[in-house]
Amino acid sequence: MDKNKNAIKSLHDIAESDMSETEFLQAIENNMIPLKEFFTYYKCAIMEIETKFRVLNEQFSINGESNPIEFIQSRIKSYGSIFRKMTAKNVQPSLYEIEKNVSDIAGIRVVCSFVQDIYHLADCFLRQDDIFLIEKKDYIKNPKPNGYRSLHLIVEVPIFLENEKRLVKAEVQLRTIAMDFWASLEHKLRYKKNLSQNMLDMLTDDLKKCADQSAEWDIRMQNIKNIIESDQE
Ligand code: GTP
Ligand code: MG
Repeated sequence: MDKNKNAIKSLHDIAESDMSETEFLQAIENNMIPLKEFFTYYKCAIMEIETKFRVLNEQFSINGESNPIEFIQSRIKSYGSIFRKMTAKNVQPSLYEIEKNVSDIAGIRVVCSFVQDIYHLADCFLRQDDIFLIEKKDYIKNPKPNGYRSLHLIVEVPIFLENEKRLVKAEVQLRTIAMDFWASLEHKLRYKKNLSQNMLDMLTDDLKKCADQSAEWDIRMQNIKNIIESDQE
C-alpha cells in the first residue's frame, strides 16, 4: 500500500500517466488520496450546481410564483459504471481520459411539476456567467424512440479550491414528475434479463404509449395552470 502511495504522489501525476485498469483498481483498493481528490471535485461540482438551483427555486417564490422544483437528486457515477463506459468507448481508463470522456460523473436531476418551469430554470441557470454549456440535448422536444423525455445539459462549473480554480463537468437532467416516473419504470425494464422477447416487445410498446399519453397530460396540466394564473391577474 505504501509503495503504491509513493509511486503516485499527486493527482497531477495520475493525470499525466496512462494508468492501466489494474493499476486504477489497485489505487481504488488502496484508497489513495489522489483518487479521493478526483471524486471530490465532482462532489463539489454537484454542491455548486444544486445550490444554484435551490437559489433559483427560492427566488421564484419571492416573486410570488410557486416553487418550480419538486426535488433534486444527485449522484456520483460508480467506478463500475465509469469502467463500462470507458470500455465501450475503447479508451484507456486513466484519470485524464476519464475526465475527458465521461461527462456524467457528476449527475444532477432536477424534477419539476411543469414543462415551462424546466425551460425557465434551464435558461436562468445557463445565463449565469460561471456556467459553461458544453452540450444541450432536448429530449422533450425530440423524445427518444422509446418515449424517453428530459432536457439534458452538459456543463462545466468552476470549483474554488485552496490554491486553484478547476472547471468540472456535470450532467444536469431536467424533467417533470411524469417523465421521472416513466424513466424509473423504463430503467427497471432495461435491467430485466429473464423476460421472453414477446413480453419484452409488449412492455416496450406499452411503455411507449404511456410516455406519449403522459406527455399529453403534461401539456394539458400546463395549459390548465396557465389559464388559472392568467385569470388571477
Ligand atoms: P450515455 O447514455 O450516458 O452513455 O450517454 P449519451 O450520450 O447516450 O447520453 P444520453 O443523453 O442519451 O443519456 C444520458 C442519461 O440519460 C442516461 O445515463 C440516463 O440517466 C438517461 N437516459 C437516456 N436515455 C434514457 C432512456 O431511454 N431511459 C431512461 N430510463 N433513461 C435514459
Ligand atoms: Mg445513452
